Amino acid sequence: MSDDTGGGRGGFHTDLGFVLAAAGSAVGLGNIWKFPYNTGEYGGGAFVLVYLGCIALVGLPLLYGEMIIGRRGGKDVLSSMAALTAQSGIAGTLATWGVGLLAVGSGFFILSFYAVVAGWALHFVALSVGLASANPAGSEATFTALAGDGPLSAWWHTVFMVLVVLVVAAGVQSGIERACKILMPALMGILLLLLAYVSVTGGLGSSLSFLFRPDFSKLSAEAVLEALGHAFFTLSLGMGAMVTYGSYLASDRHVVRDQLAVALLDTAIALLAGLVIFAVVFSMGAEPGAGPGLVFITLPDLFRQIPGGGVVSLAFFLLLVVAAWSSGISLLEVVVALAVDRFGWSRRMAAIGIGILIWGLGLPSAFSGEFLDFMDNLTTRYMLPIGGFLIALSAGWLLSKEDREAGFAALPGGGTSLATTWTFTIRFITPALVLLVILNGLGLF
Ligand code: TRP
Repeated sequence: MSDDTGGGRGGFHTDLGFVLAAAGSAVGLGNIWKFPYNTGEYGGGAFVLVYLGCIALVGLPLLYGEMIIGRRGGKDVLSSMAALTAQSGIAGTLATWGVGLLAVGSGFFILSFYAVVAGWALHFVALSVGLASANPAGSEATFTALAGDGPLSAWWHTVFMVLVVLVVAAGVQSGIERACKILMPALMGILLLLLAYVSVTGGLGSSLSFLFRPDFSKLSAEAVLEALGHAFFTLSLGMGAMVTYGSYLASDRHVVRDQLAVALLDTAIALLAGLVIFAVVFSMGAEPGAGPGLVFITLPDLFRQIPGGGVVSLAFFLLLVVAAWSSGISLLEVVVALAVDRFGWSRRMAAIGIGILIWGLGLPSAFSGEFLDFMDNLTTRYMLPIGGFLIALSAGWLLSKEDREAGFAALPGGGTSLATTWTFTIRFITPALVLLVILNGLGLF
């Protein structure tokens, strides 16, 4: 296998490498930070059930759509869209540029604030090993001091960005694939250890029933839309991350299977993380509905009280860092691939140059929580759903039948009925549901 740094495109060496990289993109802060606190806020089981439904109706169809666009287009998100929608005239051009611009914008914006939050997780790793000291006034004060300390947040943000740039600069195969082949098993290992820990210390039973016993009286329309939006974010959809990774796949043959594996891993890891977190919460008689502070305030507080809390804390925040790292890699890769494929930049220069720009854009988020929320809302509520809407319509209506169904056609038996079901879903159901997310983001409900 040739090395893939420099101008050559490269690709994933093995199918497993692809699945781990794509799952690495999907499994991130969304799974371990957002999903548990959303579930806590929206009352548990009913939210989980709706979320699973959204994964099936929006997540899976769009995941296939993105991967097949990348696989058939064979280039970065903009060039792949351009190649596959060329026969569709003006609609194709509009969709291509809409998706391309949104993808670059989302790559910049999401990574800029994502790196700040991931940086906080790095700070908590440092706290766990005694390289930083907690505020004597308690966990709330420790977190407030960190988030309110611009230079400190900016420092950890910088460390995280360096980690991401290093991997992307090293190439698809020798950087991304190699890193994810280590990071993903490490992540699963840590999660299973934590699960073993809580199964001994208790709280697992209450956690299980909280997650899986639906109480529909707690389910609001807002919760449904939140679940829909989250299904999107957690699978890294709407900005061509899966298009870009799909473009490094060598054949049509495994698209359907790989896509299922990625969605399954992502969902399983979110549920396991929730199971662990709520077990700790319930075993200590704490509150599940703590909101965004669940992971950074409630948990550290509990970790100080439980047996072996220091080690558990270290394991947990390492888990968060690893998950964020492999996601950050995919966010940068979307933009780097575009610079390499479209403008012929060398991979190394693209990774470093774009990394520096994103780092700079992240500084305001490091210094202001309001700016961070603004970036989060701008991307999660508007840019990603609009991007996803355009990708769904393009995959359903603008691609040729051959390209559109290539993944199914490569299945043993030709996958005709699956292809028909998918085409119907991506044409009508997915765009309609995504439109709901967009209208909700605009405050129309
Ligand atoms: N899926 C990641 C998470 O759950 C976040 C993420 C990574 C992402 N790459 C993305 C979201 C691309 C949207 C688009 O944390």
